[in-house]
Amino acid sequence: MQNVTLIATAAMGLESIVANEVKSLGYEVQVENGRVVFEAPISAIPRCNLWLRTADRVRLLVGKFNASTFDELFEGTKALPWENYISEKGQFPVSGKSVQSTLYSVSDCQAITKKAIAERLKLKHGVASKMPETGALYKVEVSLLKDEAMLTIDTSGAGLHKRGYRVGQGEAPLKETMAAALVLLTNWKPEYPLIDPFCGSGTIPIEAAMIGQNIAPGFNREFASEGWSFIKDKYWETAFEEAEDKANYDQQLEITGSDIDHNLIKISADNAIEAGFGDLISWKQMQVKDLTIKKENGYIIGNPPYGQRLSDKDAVAKIYQDLGSVMDSHPSWSVYILTAFEKFEKAYGKPATKKRKLFNGFIRTDYYQYFGKKNKGDI
Ligand SMILES: C[S@@+](CC[C@H](N)C(=O)[O-])C[C@H]1O[C@@H](n2cnc3c(N)ncnc32)[C@H](O)[C@@H]1O
Repeated sequence: MQNVTLIATAAMGLESIVANEVKSLGYEVQVENGRVVFEAPISAIPRCNLWLRTADRVRLLVGKFNASTFDELFEGTKALPWENYISEKGQFPVSGKSVQSTLYSVSDCQAITKKAIAERLKLKHGVASKMPETGALYKVEVSLLKDEAMLTIDTSGAGLHKRGYRVGQGEAPLKETMAAALVLLTNWKPEYPLIDPFCGSGTIPIEAAMIGQNIAPGFNREFASEGWSFIKDKYWETAFEEAEDKANYDQQLEITGSDIDHNLIKISADNAIEAGFGDLISWKQMQVKDLTIKKENGYIIGNPPYGQRLSDKDAVAKIYQDLGSVMDSHPSWSVYILTAFEKFEKAYGKPATKKRKLFNGFIRTDYYQYFGKKNKGDI
C-alpha cells in the first residue's frame, strides 16, 4: 500500500484554514464542504494528527460508491479492501449518518455495513467463526449523502481539539481548534504582544503560545491509530521526533490573558501549567475597561460574552464600548473579536476593516477585524 486518502474534517467556515495547514505539511488538497481531502503516504496519518491545529479529526477513506438499496450497500462495502487496514483482532464498531438518501434508516445501514466488513475480514484473514474483536480500535463510519456511501475509519480517537491540557473550564469555553483558527486568521507573529481580555479558561492565549513556539498541538495525547499495525511504529517515532525538532522552546512570547472573573484566571493558569506554559503566559484578573497597554503593534484576540439573552444586551454593549474606548488610544494595535452580537461595530465605535462569518459550535458569529496602523521598526 503506497498512499492513502485522508479526510481532515473541519468546522463550517474553517475549511480554508485547515487546507492551509495540510498544505504546509506538504500535501496537495481538495477543499469540500466541511472537509479537506488529500492523498498522502501512510506517514501522513501520524503527522496530520500531531500537527493539525484547526481540524476536528483525520479520517481514512476506505471507499465511496453509490448505494440506494441494502444489497448495493452490502456488496459495495464488502468489495472494499478492509483487510489492508483492520487487523485480524481489530474492533470495528460502525456509526452512521444519512442525508437526502434512499437508505434513511441509519441503524440498518450500520448493521449491514458491519456484517459486510465482518464477512470480508473473515475471508481475507482466514477466520472461521466470529471475528474476535479484542484488539485495536477502528471506528468505522458509513455516511450516506444523496445515495453515495462513503466509508471511513477515524484515525484520531478523541477529537483533535482534545489537546490534553484542559484541566478546568468556564461556562462557554472555545474549542481549542476554533481558538487556534482565530489566532491563525490574524497576522500575529511571536514577536508581537498578544492580549485576550476575555480569556475565560485561557484557550486563545494557550493556543497562541503553542503556535508561537511551534509546538505540535497533539504532542501530549494519544491517537486511535497509534495501535494500528499497518502504520509502522517508525512513522510514529519519526513524527514525534519531527515535532520535538521543530518546537522552538526558546521563542520569547508576550502573551497575556485577562478576565473579570478571578476563578477563571486561576483555571487559565492551571491549564497553562498543564500545557507547559507556566511561566510563559501572564494572567491577570481585570475588567476590560481597566486594560492598560504599554507596547506598540500588538494584537487583541478575544471571544467576549455575546449577550444572547435580551436582558444582557445593554451590559454586553457596554463591554464592547469599553474595549473600543481603550483601543482608541492604541491605533498600532490590531483588534480581532468573535461575537454573535449583531450591533458590535456600533457599540465598539467604528466599522471593522474586515469581518468573516464563522460558526462557534452552532452559533453563527462574525469575526470582526480591525487592522492596526503599524509603527515601523517599533515592536
Ligand atoms: C465567552 S467567555 C470566553 C471563553 C474563553 N474564550 C474560553 O475559551 O474559555 C467570555 C468571558 O468574558 C468575561 N467577561 C465578561 N465581562 C467582562 C469584562 N467586563 N471584562 C473582562 N472580562 C469579562 C467572562 O468572565 C467570560 O470568561
